[in-house]
Amino acid sequence: MTLTTRITELLGIEYPIVQGGMQGVGVAELASAVSNAGGLGILTALTQPTPEALRAEIERCRAMTDQPFGVNLTVFPTINSPDYKAYAQSIIDGGIKIVETAGTSAVREIWEMLKPHGVTILHKCTAVRHALSAERAGCDVISIDGFECAGHPGEDDIPGLILIPAAADKVRIPMLASGGFGDGRGLVAALALGADGINMGTRFCATQEARIHPNVKQAYLDNDERGTHLIFRSFKNTARVGKSEVSDEVARRLAQPGATFGDVKELVAGSAGREMLETGDMSMGVFWAGMVQGLIHDIPTVQELIDRIVDEAESIVRSRLGAMLDSRLEQAAA
Ligand SMILES: Cc1cc2nc3c(=O)[nH]c(=O)nc-3n(C[C@H](O)[C@H](O)[C@H](O)COP(=O)(O)O)c2cc1C
Repeated sequence: MTLTTRITELLGIEYPIVQGGMQGVGVAELASAVSNAGGLGILTALTQPTPEALRAEIERCRAMTDQPFGVNLTVFPTINSPDYKAYAQSIIDGGIKIVETAGTSAVREIWEMLKPHGVTILHKCTAVRHALSAERAGCDVISIDGFECAGHPGEDDIPGLILIPAAADKVRIPMLASGGFGDGRGLVAALALGADGINMGTRFCATQEARIHPNVKQAYLDNDERGTHLIFRSFKNTARVGKSEVSDEVARRLAQPGATFGDVKELVAGSAGREMLETGDMSMGVFWAGMVQGLIHDIPTVQELIDRIVDEAESIVRSRLGAMLDSRLEQAAA
């Protein structure tokens, strides 16, 4: 079955399923597997230590798929900011035509670099007002990330069931629904709520091709829908991470009156997290995870996962929902 939406047409992909940028996870093995299975795979620029390494990773991914794939560039205010413009230049030099951005409005300088090279910009936002200002500023696709999501859900706490249709009512350009998606039910729901496709993060971490340690994949299976912590709330930089002994401790320390970032710095350090993804030593750091963990029960290949999502979506639309309409018609005719 094909599933045609504004997203499949704009991005030149078979199914409206995008793999969002994921620090430490979005490398060529995963991105190419998603693109080969008919979705859009995305490399994560800052997972590469240098812009030159990103350029090489783009070539490695291109050798693994002849389908479209993109690159994520996330711009966050950090003390030692990476050279974002040099990463953007690697994206341009690598001939990438689809870029997912996220982070502060400083990303717009990156858009200005990319746009003249015919790059389609997907911008991830957590609020309708941010989506509208990104649309006005010229991005091509909005990825609207609900409260359920892994990573940074923003500070408004609006779940997808409200955020997606609220955004769909106002955003005119194609829109991806993100946060909490992992199966065909979610895909149909997203389309019904007014999105043109879905963006998934956590679900793709629990696949064969995700290049992370099996212990981390197992944590996504072991945690249920309650298995996340929201940390950094008091710093207005909320982050949703998977429940573990380390994240329990982070949450405990941050709940103390007057807690500062310094109280948890060593537990949440990016370098420790990277080591945990590689070694599987879960005592090293925290891992990003969304509430969709409650819907993750296996570690399929990416191809199996995407086929399953599409088949399930088709069966819901044709059989479950279709039958509801048919029985109404039959009753009306009787
Ligand atoms: C392991 C992991 C790392 C992530 N890293 C990033 C990142 O570097 N930049 C970004 O924009 N989003 C990042 N995200 C968020 C995803 O791109 C996506 O928006 C989110 O996972 C969607 O919610 P879901 O996990 O419920 O599918 C990350 C998510 C995960 C699970």
